Amino acid sequence: MKQILMIRVSPRGKDSASRSVADTLAARLTDLYPSAKLVQRDLAAEHLPHLDDITLRAISTQDPAEAESLKEAARQSDRLTEELLESDLLVIATPMWNFGIPAALKAWIDLVVRPGKTFRYADGGVLGLAKDKKAILLVASGGVFTEGPWRPWDFVEPYLRQILGFIGIVDVQTVRVEGMNLPQLAADAVPKANKAVEELAL
Ligand SMILES: Cc1cc2nc3c(=O)[nH]c(=O)nc-3n(C[C@H](O)[C@H](O)[C@H](O)COP(=O)(O)O)c2cc1C
Repeated sequence: MKQILMIRVSPRGKDSASRSVADTLAARLTDLYPSAKLVQRDLAAEHLPHLDDITLRAISTQDPAEAESLKEAARQSDRLTEELLESDLLVIATPMWNFGIPAALKAWIDLVVRPGKTFRYADGGVLGLAKDKKAILLVASGGVFTEGPWRPWDFVEPYLRQILGFIGIVDVQTVRVEGMNLPQLAADAVPKANKAVEELAL
């Protein structure tokens, strides 16, 4: 394990359940892989831009001359994409917001899902280029989505698994921090998730 990329999304600082569980996982990973570089990317501190016309052209053009002239506009996406490609393990610690992922995480995804870098079209299909990587998702939510009537409302884990699979990351484990808004579950949610983190196959 050479590099671990840990992405935190919640803006709630010390009150954040997903950040708290990410701390537990970071400590375990540091113990297990003391020589690995742990890259922490905090999407609440760093406001990534939404794709505009020029960035979109810069990161999707297949014309080398145009790519050269738009190099500057592609720089942030290049940096984030390289960081992902250089990592052996990706950790995404995120809240569920309005049944999906926060826009800050979607902005990161839009910058790293790149034709020619993390995927390419081949033989009428798609080839993921972010090979030989694992991912761990830490997902905090107010309700419960792993079972029961709200399960079909979960657009976080299915989406993240699908988009990671699209770029070639298919070995994905998830720890849910569920019931943060339910009085009967809230107190136990983080300790339960911390225990699940201790039991992850790493
Ligand atoms: C803007 C916003 C939207 C939310 N939407 C949902 C939701 O759709 N479903 C849900 O179960 N919880 C929802 N919650 C609750 C959070 O998922 C919950 O508080 C979780 O602990 C947030 O993660 P964090 O503690 O790491 O910030 C929402 C919270 C906020 C602030």
